Amino acid sequence: MNRVYVCSCFGITEEEVRARAAAGAGTPRSIASACKAGTDCGSCVRRIQALLGRGAAPRRHAAGCSAVTPAAAGGAAPLDEAA
Ligand code: FES
Repeated sequence: MNRVYVCSCFGITEEEVRARAAAGAGTPRSIASACKAGTDCGSCVRRIQALLGRGAAPRRHAAGCSAVTPAAAGGAAPLDEAA
């Protein structure tokens, strides 16, 4: 079995992220809530976004929201699973 790790901090594989997504976890935050991926160093968040098909998502919030996400500010930040 060929395992491709997405999150080395928690040993989460692409297969597990895809399974969580198929079970309804459609955002990096919900993936984080399900298995903690992305909640430590944060270096895997963009990869998780890509696996979820959100790699081409806009880097800013929709019009009307002036908040800028940490990712939009230039880096992938760890996800706070408690949020
Ligand atoms: S590699 Fe996923 S949180 Fe560090």
